[in-house]
Parts: sequence; structure tokens; C-alpha cells
Amino acid sequence: MSDLIAQLEQLQTEAQAALDAAQSTPATEAWYSEYLGRKGKMTAILRGLGQLPKEERPLVGKRANEIKEALDAALATRQEAIAAEEMQRSLAAEGIDVTMPGRRPLLGKLHPTNQAMREMVEILKQMGFQVYDSPEVETDAYNFELLNFPPDHPAREMQDTFFTTTPDVILRTHTSPGQIHAMRHYAPEPIRVILPGKCYRNEDVTARSEMMFYQIEGLAIGRNITFSDLKGTLLNFANQMYGEGRKIRFRKSYFPFTEPSVEVDVDCILCGGAGCRICKHTGWLEILGAGMVHPVVLQNGGYDPAVFSGFAFGMGIERQAMLKRGVDDIRLFYSNDVRFLERV
Ligand code: PHE
Repeated sequence: MSDLIAQLEQLQTEAQAALDAAQSTPATEAWYSEYLGRKGKMTAILRGLGQLPKEERPLVGKRANEIKEALDAALATRQEAIAAEEMQRSLAAEGIDVTMPGRRPLLGKLHPTNQAMREMVEILKQMGFQVYDSPEVETDAYNFELLNFPPDHPAREMQDTFFTTTPDVILRTHTSPGQIHAMRHYAPEPIRVILPGKCYRNEDVTARSEMMFYQIEGLAIGRNITFSDLKGTLLNFANQMYGEGRKIRFRKSYFPFTEPSVEVDVDCILCGGAGCRICKHTGWLEILGAGMVHPVVLQNGGYDPAVFSGFAFGMGIERQAMLKRGVDDIRLFYSNDVRFLERV
């Protein structure tokens, strides 16, 4: 009897050593068949049980069970350890560190120009203006002639034009040609439209001017439209865009398509008029050009100037975004620097 138990204990020592040496899951499976399987070494030893006297068998059986359980538990532990090692090895090979904190994906959002454009469109919509789409590629007639720029008029040089290889076809230098499209579409009905879109000027790119930029044009035509309507509309716009209590001021100016023409300033949103770096110590910020629609332009659009009058205004969208958000270089809008796009 003691002989069988000694054999079992000997087997346990040998099996444990073999298990510790096993380096892979298949090796542990082979180990199982060799020691604990139906045709394994443990079974072979236990075949001797039948030769033992009856009273000794339970004791040997009990010891055999204990050893089998211990080896089963050892197998489970070894297999777990091997699985963990295999995981470590494959992670190291793939270069993945599962303990590294995740990288937050960048969230997209509207470009600052689009944010400003939508805000402006919303304010003007509330006042009854509707968006009217007009082309970016124009003819000389729409961009200049019909807006009362005579040929060779020096005012054309205010707006350095990009020409195309097709004679007379140009990239619009302002959104004002949309005035003619809208008027010709609706005349002789009264209209209140806004025309947002891209414009192009063949200018040097500086902190203050880009060769491609956005404008939004406003146009109202009706039977009794006066300069006061223009003032009220722009004051309301300035209050909603730049904050309640804003003041605006009109300076006389010149555009061929409006008479009288003005440039409009808002009191400096940073210093409130006291004078600072942003307003260059004038207390005012220029926000747009405007005026009463010139009779020639009304006529070109299909309205009788003896019956109809109207006002128009046009402003740079990036410029409004710059003023409102304290951006001092328009080139940032087109350089796609994520730090800028995230901040603004
Ligand atoms: N089109 C003019 C510009 O680009 C702005 C403007 C629009 C002025 C409408 C008066 C009326 O400078």
C-alpha cells in the first residue's frame, strides 16, 4: 500500500515539474493526457489498486483523489499564467499598450465664417429679409455696368478684378450684382432680400484683406422706403449682432450704385467708445457700406424710380467675425490652423 502512495507522490512531484516547464497552451494539454488522462500515468498506477487488500483501498483512493485535485488546480493556474503571458507577448508584438489612456477624437464644428454668416442671416431674417442666391461668376455687366459703374470709371479700380479667359466673364468682386438678379426676378413687386456669398479681389493678401472672402448684401425695395428705414434696420442689426445699446454712426461715402452713400460704424465693442487698440483710438469700428439704391440701378433692375425707392447695404462676413471675436488677422480664416478653428 505504502508503495502505491509513494508512487503517486512521486508522480505528483514529477507532474508538477513538467507542468512548470510547459510553455504553451498545447503543451499543457499534452501534459494533461500524459499524467491525468484516461491512458495517463496516474491511471496506470491506480490499476494496481485491485491487487490491494480491500481495507487498504479507500485510503489509497482518497490520497489519489487529493493528488488529482491538486494537479487539476495546478493545471488551471498554469494555463491562466500562460494565457496572460501569451496576451502580453502579442500586445508587445502589436505595439499596443492597453493601459494607455484613450485619445479624445476631435469634434468638428462650423467654420467661424459660417457661424458668423448664420448668425447674421438669422438676425436679418427676423426683420423680414429672405435669402436670395446669386452666382459667384459674373459678367462685367452685372458686376459693374448695371450697377452704374461706367466703362473705365476709376471706381472700378477700387475693386481689383479677377478676369477669366472668357471675355467679360469675371469673378464677382462684391455681392452687389445679386441686387440686379433679385430685382429682375421680382420686379415690380417690393422685395427684401439678403445675398450671402463669396467674393474675389485681386489684392495683396494682408492681415486685413484676403483675395477670397464672404460678404452679405441686403436690399429692400418698395414704394416708401427712406433713409430712416436703412438706419433703423442697421441699428437693429448692430444691437443684435454686437449687443444691446450699441450706437451706430454714418459717414458720407461714395458707391456708384447708391446715392447718397454711407459707411457705417458701430461704437467699439471692446472699449465702448473710449478708445483702444482695436478701434485704433477712434472709439468706432467700420462695419459696412450702404446707401439708397441709385435711380439708374432701380431702372436696370426693372423698377420705376419715380414710384419705387430702396436701400442697400453690404458687409464683409469675416470682418464681422473678426470684430466680434477679437481676431486681428483675416488670413487665419483660410489657413486651416486647428488651434484657431477650435478657439473661435
Ligand atoms: N458692394 C460694396 C462693397 O463691396 C458695399 C455696398 C453694398 C455699398 C451695398 C453700398 C450698398 O464695398
